[in-house]
Amino acid sequence: MKEDSKNRPAKPRRPHTQVVTGGRDPASYHGFVNPPVYHASTVLYPSAEDYVAHRAQYQYGRRGTPTTEALELAVQELEGPQCAHVALLPSGLAAISAALLAVVQSGDHVLITDSAYGPTRSFCDRILTRLGVSITYYDPLVGHAIGELMQPNTRLIYLESPGSLSFEMQDVAAMTAAAHARGALALMDNTWATPLYFRPLEHGVDLAIQAGTKYIGGHSDVMLGTVSANNATAASLRDTVRYSGWCVGPDDVYLGLRGLRTLATRLDRHFQSGLAVARWLEQRPEVLRLLHPALPSHPGHALWKRDFTGACGLFSVVLKPVPQQAVYAFLDALELFGIGASWGGYESLAIPFDCAPVRTATRWAPGGPGVRFHIGLEAVEDLIADLEQGFAALAAAARA
Ligand SMILES: Cc1ncc(COP(=O)(O)O)c(C=O)c1O
Repeated sequence: MKEDSKNRPAKPRRPHTQVVTGGRDPASYHGFVNPPVYHASTVLYPSAEDYVAHRAQYQYGRRGTPTTEALELAVQELEGPQCAHVALLPSGLAAISAALLAVVQSGDHVLITDSAYGPTRSFCDRILTRLGVSITYYDPLVGHAIGELMQPNTRLIYLESPGSLSFEMQDVAAMTAAAHARGALALMDNTWATPLYFRPLEHGVDLAIQAGTKYIGGHSDVMLGTVSANNATAASLRDTVRYSGWCVGPDDVYLGLRGLRTLATRLDRHFQSGLAVARWLEQRPEVLRLLHPALPSHPGHALWKRDFTGACGLFSVVLKPVPQQAVYAFLDALELFGIGASWGGYESLAIPFDCAPVRTATRWAPGGPGVRFHIGLEAVEDLIADLEQGFAALAAAARA
């Protein structure tokens, strides 16, 4: 059993406690609550012999410092006991590419969900194919039947649940079981839930990815990614990151650590406010349907309820058909919702979207224009008042 800094057996802790205590050891930094931000390249060794034998806890800035170690250990604890290693990367997309590169080799075939974050597709189509890896996109709702799409050289299946624009829920346990039965690995982008609301490694995922840019950072001021590995993938992840020379600047790591300490509290608020605004939107005459897995009307609600303990502030709506200019008028009239792509910060956002041009395995025809919302930490009443004025602008533009 692990021990704490006073050599007492470590007690199992709940996630709300883990985000506060994980990776923190004030005794080793003079009692200060937070670890110092080590701006570091060279590490000096006590003697030539020590240098030659690499006898030092930290060997080189790129290979890790007490600051990076604190964030890695905190995320590792949050991912649960199956997590054997965490790597930090300079963005969420870098975490996605690092995870894929950690396990594929030339001649492999990979199965990628058609609902994947757009740049994930671009990495697969433009870089992995160049390395001799073949790609098949699959229907995110395929479930256990993913096994039927697998080829003798299928190395991995890649999940993102829910999809971060279209919100299809995937049966993670059934799909990882099907992959493992055929000797393949399962990778998952878990940015939406974070390990607070869903722990992928407990459901059979071998490499879990987070864009720390979103909720871990939480303040729209940092780019960060994490990859969490189980025992099957830890060594190859560690080697791939080490031999590629990827590392994250110390101030960004610190911002990640700082954000992590309030993650549970912020996320609970995003969850509650997001649901409140989604329920309000669901009653609006302009709205065709909500794409929010925590609403009973969502086709993936049963899976969400079975597997997840919460929902973040990100969801989409499909509006009843109106000219695209009316959608733009709606968005332009909003004052509290910024128009911007990233999410997970304290502020609310709204963007228009259409998955149709990028889909290759499924058809995206939801029946009207899509708008994705990120519900921030503002008062729900103010957000609803803002949306009301947006709908007034939408109606005026639709009449024009
Ligand atoms: C689901 C998802 N994964 C990964 C990323 C990439 O993260 P980053 O912007 O840090 O590269 C994003 C960014 O929007 C995302 O929405």
